[in-house]
Amino acid sequence: MFERFDAPEQVFTYRLGSALHMEQGSLKMLNELSAAAGDSGVKELLTQHIHETEHQVENLSRVFDLMNIDAEDNPSPTTKGLESEGESLVRKAEPPVIDDVVLAAALGAEHYEQAAYESLIITANALGRDDVAALLDENLSQERHAAEALRQKARELATR
Ligand SMILES: [Fe+2]
Repeated sequence: MFERFDAPEQVFTYRLGSALHMEQGSLKMLNELSAAAGDSGVKELLTQHIHETEHQVENLSRVFDLMNIDAEDNPSPTTKGLESEGESLVRKAEPPVIDDVVLAAALGAEHYEQAAYESLIITANALGRDDVAALLDENLSQERHAAEALRQKARELATR
C-alpha cells in the first residue's frame, strides 16, 4: 500500500480499505451494543442494521472488484475509538440508562460512516465511476436511515 499519496485514486483506494475496516468494526460494535441493549425495540433496530452492514461489506467488495484493486483492510482508528468509547459507556451504565448509552454510541458510529461515504462518493463521481458511486450511495442511504431511526428511538426513550 502507499507510503504517501499523490493522486486522488490512491487516496480513494486507501480510504476504501479503511471503509472496509470501518464496517467490519461496526459489525462488532453493533453486535456488542445489541447484546447490551435492554429495550427490545433498540435490539431490533441494531439487528436490522447488522444485516444492512453485512450487505454494505458485500457492496464494498464489489467496489474493489469494479475498480480492479485488492480488498485491502486499512486501519480505521476512528472506528476503534468509537468502539472503545461505546464499550466504556456500556460498562459505566446501570440498567435505567443502558439504552441511552447504546443509542448514543450507535449514533456516533453512523454519523462517522456517513462522512466516510460522502467523501468517497465525491471522488468516485469525479473519477467518472458512477457504477462505484451508486454502490457507495446505497451504503450511505442505509447509514442515513439507520441514524434517523436511532435518533427517533433515542428521543422516544428520553421523553417517556
Ligand atoms: Fe452503519
